[in-house]
Amino acid sequence: MCGIVGYIARKQNPNSLKLGIEALKRLEYRGYDSAGFAFWDESKKDIFCQKAAGRITALEEKANIAVNAVALSANPLILHTRWATHGGVSESNAHPHCDCQNNIYLVHNGIVENYKELKEVLQGEGHQFRSETDTEVIAHLVEKFFQGNLEEAVRKALPLIKGSYGIAVIAKNDPQKLVAARLSSPLLLGLGENEYFVASDPSAIIAHTNKVIYLDDNEIVTITPDNFSILKEKKPEEIEWKLEDAQKGGYPHFMLKEIMEEPEAIENSMKGRLLTEDGTARLGGLQDIVTRLRRAKRMLFTACGTAFYASLVGRYMFEEYAGIPVEADVASEFRYRKPIIDENTVLLCVSQSGETADTLAALKEMKMKGVLTVGVVNVVGSTIARETDAGVYNHIGPEMGVASTKAFISQLTVMALLTLLLGRQRNLSLVKGQRIAQDLQALPEKARIILTQEAKKIKEIAEKYYQYNNFIYLGRKYNYPIALEGALKLKEIAYPIHAEGYASGEMKHGPIALADQNFPFVFIAPQDSVYEKVVSNMEEVKARRAPIIAIATEGDERIKTIADDVIYIPKTSEMLTPILSVMPLHLFAYHMGVLRGNDVDKPRNLAKSVTVE
Ligand code: M6R
Repeated sequence: MCGIVGYIARKQNPNSLKLGIEALKRLEYRGYDSAGFAFWDESKKDIFCQKAAGRITALEEKANIAVNAVALSANPLILHTRWATHGGVSESNAHPHCDCQNNIYLVHNGIVENYKELKEVLQGEGHQFRSETDTEVIAHLVEKFFQGNLEEAVRKALPLIKGSYGIAVIAKNDPQKLVAARLSSPLLLGLGENEYFVASDPSAIIAHTNKVIYLDDNEIVTITPDNFSILKEKKPEEIEWKLEDAQKGGYPHFMLKEIMEEPEAIENSMKGRLLTEDGTARLGGLQDIVTRLRRAKRMLFTACGTAFYASLVGRYMFEEYAGIPVEADVASEFRYRKPIIDENTVLLCVSQSGETADTLAALKEMKMKGVLTVGVVNVVGSTIARETDAGVYNHIGPEMGVASTKAFISQLTVMALLTLLLGRQRNLSLVKGQRIAQDLQALPEKARIILTQEAKKIKEIAEKYYQYNNFIYLGRKYNYPIALEGALKLKEIAYPIHAEGYASGEMKHGPIALADQNFPFVFIAPQDSVYEKVVSNMEEVKARRAPIIAIATEGDERIKTIADDVIYIPKTSEMLTPILSVMPLHLFAYHMGVLRGNDVDKPRNLAKSVTVE
């Protein structure tokens, strides 16, 4: 999704534009289709603005930055990557947008919901628009109120906007300021040595500082070369990510690097939290609400995409081992429903980015109704992490690939930890709790076995199947959500392949009509309590000559006689199998995407975090 970078330094920095472009490139992973920047050029006493459709490299070429960067001093500077929503991908729709006078220059993440009404009023007042975007109205609104003080104009303009925004603004007629503000769209202020940054995502600035202040909704920060001011007194926080986390580290793609980090993701998410002897887990972020969790009679899970599939696995775990009724719904539906709640209901929001608009809206709705809210979030300091009453961080570093891979593994791991905690508060016996904890401890090693022993085979299977256009993924019970996840990953990475995930038991209610030699079926069939059922579905598909790929438990020779290709995973307890069974599917989707010639880290039309509805 869109990305914002802003920069202002105490002294003129001849490298500022280069630095800003590099920071913007660190946001490329979020997905975008045009880019631009604007800066105050002291030598010309004017603002220079450049935009381009396409990649940041196109912007660099246009601005001839490679040649000129060192000669320029861009201060203050704002930069943006745009992911088209209102208006197509074009240079004129790219940010920054400016007012009629070429005074105000502004970059924006989010959506101005009432832009049509505002535009009509502004046009009626004589404002001339140059783009089809919703964003441009903000520039004209600031222009309307501008009387020499940028901060004041922004402060007057923002209350008129309905929707969401993270903005960074500069003005030719008030050139020593960078003003930034947010409402439901992430924005942070980075505090460097004699320099300040604004960014929509910490990865943009970790090369320069790890000291940040996360802006809250409705906050406006005014930054000058020497100082910054926010209305509220706020303490800086530290970003715990390292620069290497946001680099490919020798891998051709972030997605592959992050799949290879999956065993480590399990370890990191469990570190210091698993109490094997007591058969339970201690989660620091939940300490304050443990008694309220003990009283919980019902759990509502909400999330989007892959995070939602993690919630579905969590539902099976919680119901089976903690004995809590669970309802799980995608946040885009949940936010408009009227779920039945009482004082013993708990809402669990799962989100890698912590910024997903629908999940956040569902959270706010439930908070307003007094429901206890808990987050399972990766990005520290993100909005969902801060808005929830309590929460569990994934602690897996940044996930840069648009496809969620290691975050999913970590979300499942956290679900297992929560199951232990809630289960042991209720009827889960010590012995059973200990067994699950031991199995969890053994999991990273088993995950490594998959990535070392099966990797070659998974690539070969991808080479055999990448020209098929349709796939169906089937799994049952704990592995039904894994069928959904496997199919999602394949279609988002290996498009235009179409893939569907189904509950295996639903096969005969429709999907089996698709079975023929041109339609591969992927079965997730570990030796668990529903193994026989899944195997008989496989037999039915085989009888119709559809190619079968199976994920099976190591040593299962029977599967080999039915499936055309088998990928083995080590044995573990049933509730933990999804953590292992999904790994080959992530790797399979990766290879299929590469073989299809797709940009697997930035698949078309997708954004890393969906911060608009
Ligand atoms: O940041 P979140 O976990 O809230 O994101 C939710 C989904 O947008 C995300 O999982 C999406 O489905 C991924 N592209 C899947 O790989």
